[in-house]
Amino acid sequence: MSFQNVLDVGCSDGFFSKYFIENLNASKVTGLDINKYDGSIAFEVLKNYEEDFKLKYNNHNDFEILKESYENLGLVDANKFLLIKKIYDLNIDFVEGSIYELEKYKNYDVTFCGSLLEHLRDPVTAVEQLYISTNNFCIIDVSNTFSSKLFRNKPLLEYTNSGGNFFKYSKEAILTIMKNVGFKNVSVLKDYKIKIEKYGYKIPHGVFIGYK
Ligand SMILES: C[S@@+](CC[C@H](N)C(=O)[O-])C[C@H]1O[C@@H](n2cnc3c(N)ncnc32)[C@H](O)[C@@H]1O
Repeated sequence: MSFQNVLDVGCSDGFFSKYFIENLNASKVTGLDINKYDGSIAFEVLKNYEEDFKLKYNNHNDFEILKESYENLGLVDANKFLLIKKIYDLNIDFVEGSIYELEKYKNYDVTFCGSLLEHLRDPVTAVEQLYISTNNFCIIDVSNTFSSKLFRNKPLLEYTNSGGNFFKYSKEAILTIMKNVGFKNVSVLKDYKIKIEKYGYKIPHGVFIGYK
């Protein structure tokens, strides 16, 4: 499969942007992320948990420690997307922005959003914004999805009661949100589990596709 331009929303370090350009023959990839790479929190978190997350994110900022190396590469901050772009000489671009404001990012053949939905307070607006940016199809990868078979496949959301993860989604919930914002032929592309090395357990993921 090969396609033209891709918008990778919540691109983080550009792992998937790199994959699109190197393995799937995308002609151009734009990675969009809200992260400022200055140690500030990159998720919507509850005020109640803000201090904990500030500490955590501050620890992620390696710019001061590696300043000389970043500067030798012509980089002015710790943005990992720009780091891999530079190191691997990739035709990918980074923009700072939010999934809630995609109006100015239109006409992408493919939109992709990996492991972001579960961190959002307002998934419906987010998926609607993806719809606006999509010309051809949209792929959404969501962690911690579950089957709602026992509940007659109802589109269920479980509130996760944590600071930065808001909902767990039944697969039917993602499919329903995608259909309702207008995507056609919506389906589950894949179910898989990914091992979180740090905690030693596997997290289920669902990958969904919808066409314009
Ligand atoms: C868990 S990471 C997923 C990274 C990558 N897409 C992947 O699948 O491995 C979520 C990313 O979404 C970004 N993010 C959080 N809220 C966002 C928002 N409102 N708009 C765009 N990006 C956001 C975070 O900064 C983070 O880089």
